[in-house]
Order: sequence, then structure tokens, then C-alpha cells
Amino acid sequence: MPYTINAHKPTVLIVFGGNGDLTKRKIIPALFNLYLENRLPEKFAIIGTSRTKFTDEKYRTDLLAGINKFSRTGKAKKEDWAKFSVNISYQAADIKDVASYDEFESTISKLKNEWKEDPSVLYYCAVSPDLFCTIAENISKSKLENNHETTRIIIEKPFGRDLESAKALNKKLLTIFDEKQIYRIDHYLGKEVVQNVMAFRFANTIMEPLWNRTHIEHVQISVTEQIGVEDRGSYFDNAGILRDMIQNHLLQLLCIIAMEPPVNFDADLVRDKKVEVLKAMRKIVPGMIDKVAVRGQYGAGWVEGKEVLGYREEAEVNEDSNIETFAALKFYVDNWRWQGVPFYLRTGKRLFKSASHIIIQFREVPHNMFNNVERNLPKQNRLIISIQPDMSIKFQLESKTPGLEMNLNTVDMVFDYDGKTKIDSPEAYETLLLDVISGDQTLYMRADQVEAAWEVVMPVLDYWENNKMNDFPNYPANSWGPENAEALIAKDGFHWINLPDKNKKE
Ligand code: BG6
Repeated sequence: MPYTINAHKPTVLIVFGGNGDLTKRKIIPALFNLYLENRLPEKFAIIGTSRTKFTDEKYRTDLLAGINKFSRTGKAKKEDWAKFSVNISYQAADIKDVASYDEFESTISKLKNEWKEDPSVLYYCAVSPDLFCTIAENISKSKLENNHETTRIIIEKPFGRDLESAKALNKKLLTIFDEKQIYRIDHYLGKEVVQNVMAFRFANTIMEPLWNRTHIEHVQISVTEQIGVEDRGSYFDNAGILRDMIQNHLLQLLCIIAMEPPVNFDADLVRDKKVEVLKAMRKIVPGMIDKVAVRGQYGAGWVEGKEVLGYREEAEVNEDSNIETFAALKFYVDNWRWQGVPFYLRTGKRLFKSASHIIIQFREVPHNMFNNVERNLPKQNRLIISIQPDMSIKFQLESKTPGLEMNLNTVDMVFDYDGKTKIDSPEAYETLLLDVISGDQTLYMRADQVEAAWEVVMPVLDYWENNKMNDFPNYPANSWGPENAEALIAKDGFHWINLPDKNKKE
């Protein structure tokens, strides 16, 4: 049910890559849901653009199919769609040709006259990264709006393919826009449970005294995916999972766990604290890479009764590709809070199941007084933050099993986003789009943040690029990845924690 009448400025959103998968799967369903919740400005217009020619009508029909397939709120009601879709139009354009931008300019002018007010103008680059600079340059060369207060540019990932290219891209963008106009997306930051970590850590007094090396033994961050590279072979075979997932999503999760409390929610204060974490991460030097980083590539196998291809057999992938589809790494954050606490990060494609979670494992009790009972070792407490598909924050504590003996049992204290709460939780793109409309950069990546994240992964990236693996593929589809990944964490006396399906104990 609508509960907020939105007071934002009139807004024009131009979506470059308007006919792409991301637009249909994520951007338009997110905007539609914001519309249903009365969160969009009263006056807004969405202009999709790509090279292919369409009528507005055909374009809208395609977008509606996307909503019906992908929106968390299910199929659109006819009357809602009719009211929303009048705000959408389509303009075929060659985005490399500066002349095509004149047409956008005349549409914006028309809207300005109609609305009798200057709108915010948002440029969304949902295109291949090699076009980011071209779009920015053409915006600057054309008569298109670039008011430093009301114009914003949204840049999808990947932001660069290494430190140098990320720096060059930042430099170019910053000659045209101010930092406060640039919105670099990392959609993990918009996920509901990820945002809740800030509330959980900083709105509860009981967390802070526990949140450090004295009480925490180690941290695991896992983002495992059952899917393979699907139809993104040509992109992925140039990237690999270190670039695709670790440099951005997993390192950002690590920052949220490790950051110091910011003074308030000011976007720069929050981002300063995250940058501090990245700067404190122990530099991985070439000689130690094999001890702290493991890579893998999936082979063929069976997933849910269907035979699936190995990575090298996927479309548009090199048949002797050395690209990794799995990575596990161990990091340290060298500061007072985290000295000596390992952070293990793991992600991969074609793994046993899709699940994203963070596990904070607390230390053992200093003295075991329960040694005369059936299960004589109290298990270590864990905080389990499940991001998806289950959404929950769970404390695992030890408790007495009801009965005549003093037997121990692990019990869960759970905050579960079950049922309605889960359905009502906005998708990451809803949060992120609303933030860009209202000009809030807190959940977006700042230039120095992206560069600091690249700095962390560069030594591994360089080493992996220059040292081929002879045993690829080294894990079958539908497994938990290569054996070495187990060895990486087992050396320290731990094991990867794979969560059971909901409601079952590990
Ligand atoms: C994207 C990666 O950024 O994140 C994909 O490019 C990956 O390879 C995706 O599949 C995972 O996102 P989510 O939200 O489905 O966990």
C-alpha cells in the first residue's frame, strides 16, 4: 500500500543500455515497485535508449514482460502499469555519436516546459564498461544538462579492470562531473540484510564490546552461486571471479563487518570508515599468494538432474581458458580491533548451492566446566548473517537440553525476514535508485573506495594472470569448489561453514 507521497524534484532518467538485460530484469522492475509505493517523484520520465529501433509501444511491452517475469511483487496490474508506463519513452541512438544526444536534449527541454520546473537529470550507464567514458564525454560535448547540483551519472560495475584503468576512469569522469554527481554501483550494498548489519552493529550496545579480536576468532564471507557463466562468457572470460565478485561485493561486505562506527550516516563519513578498512588490509606480497589465495575453475557435472557444461565448453569462453570461476582468500585487517583475526572470503560459480552469508565465529569459552556430560565441549558461539536466499540474522548459543542431566545443546536466536517481511523488503536496486533520485551517496562507491579495493586484489590478480594453472578445471559442477579451498582454511584449524537449508541444523 502506498504510504509516502514523494516530494522529490521532477526527474528525468535516461537509461543507456535501455534494451539490455539489466534494464529489463532489475532497473525497470525496481522503478515500477518504487512507483507502486509512491516513492517516485510526481513528475518523472524514463527514456530508454539503445541502437535498435523500437516504437515506444513495443519498448513498453518488452519492459512489462520483464516486470511480469522478474519483479518481486509479481505480475503488474493493468491499471498500475498503464499509469506508470505513460512516463516511459524510447529513443534509438548511437551513443558513440555526439549528434544523437541532441534528441535527448530536446526531450528534456520539452519536459521542462511542460513541468514548468527544472528537473534532476540522471544518466544511467547500464552498458558495457568500454562505453562509460564515451557517454560521459558526449554528455559534456553536447548541450545535455550537466548542472552540478541536479545532474547525476550512475555507473554500473565493473569499474575498471584493474587499478590503473579504474584510476583512469575516475580521472576522466572527474573532469566532467563532481564526485558528488557520480554514483558507482555495488548492488550488494543495497541488499536489505547488508544494510541491516549497520543497524545491528551500531544500534545495539551489546554488540560493540564483543566486536573485536578479544571475542571474535575468525570471520567467513561466502557468496556461492549454483549458476555458471550463463550467456556472459565473453565478459567473464576477460574478468574472472576475483574481479567480478571479490574486488567489489565481497570486499564491501568485509568493510561493513570491519569498519569503525561512523559519527552519523553522512555519506562521506560512512565511506571514510570503509576506506580505512581497505587501507588497513595487510598487503599480500607475491611470495605468500599460494598460502592465502586459492583459485578454481569448474568442470562439467550434473545440477538438479541436468548435465551441465564445464567452463571451458561454455559459449564465448576460450577452450584453454586460465580464468578462475572460484576464489577463496584469507585476509587480515591490521588495526587494533582486528589484529590477528583472519577473514576468509569465498565465492564461485557452479557450486553446490546459491547462498550468501557472513559468519562471525566467537572464541571458545576460556574454561570448560562441562566435561562430565554427554557432549562435553560447548560449541563456539556464532553469529550468522544470511543475506540470500534465506534472509536472517541468527545467534547460535549453547543451552541446557531440558532433562535431568546437564547436557548441552546449540540453540538459535533468530531474527528472520520470513513471509511478509521478506516480500515487503525492497530489492537492492529499489533502494539504490531511490537513493540516487534523492541524492544520497551513502550506499554508492566513492572514487578512493574503488581504488583502494583494487589495490587490495592487484597482487593476486597479477600473479594469477602471469602464472597459469595446469590442473584447470579443478572442481566439478555441483561441488563446494577445489580441495585446496578446504586446505586454505583447515591449515588454521577451521572449516568452511555451509549453511543447511532453512530449518535444518548443520
Ligand atoms: C554480479 C556479477 O555483480 O553479481 C555476477 O557480475 C553475479 O557474476 C551477481 O552472478 C550476483 O549477484 P546476486 O545479487 O545475484 O547475488
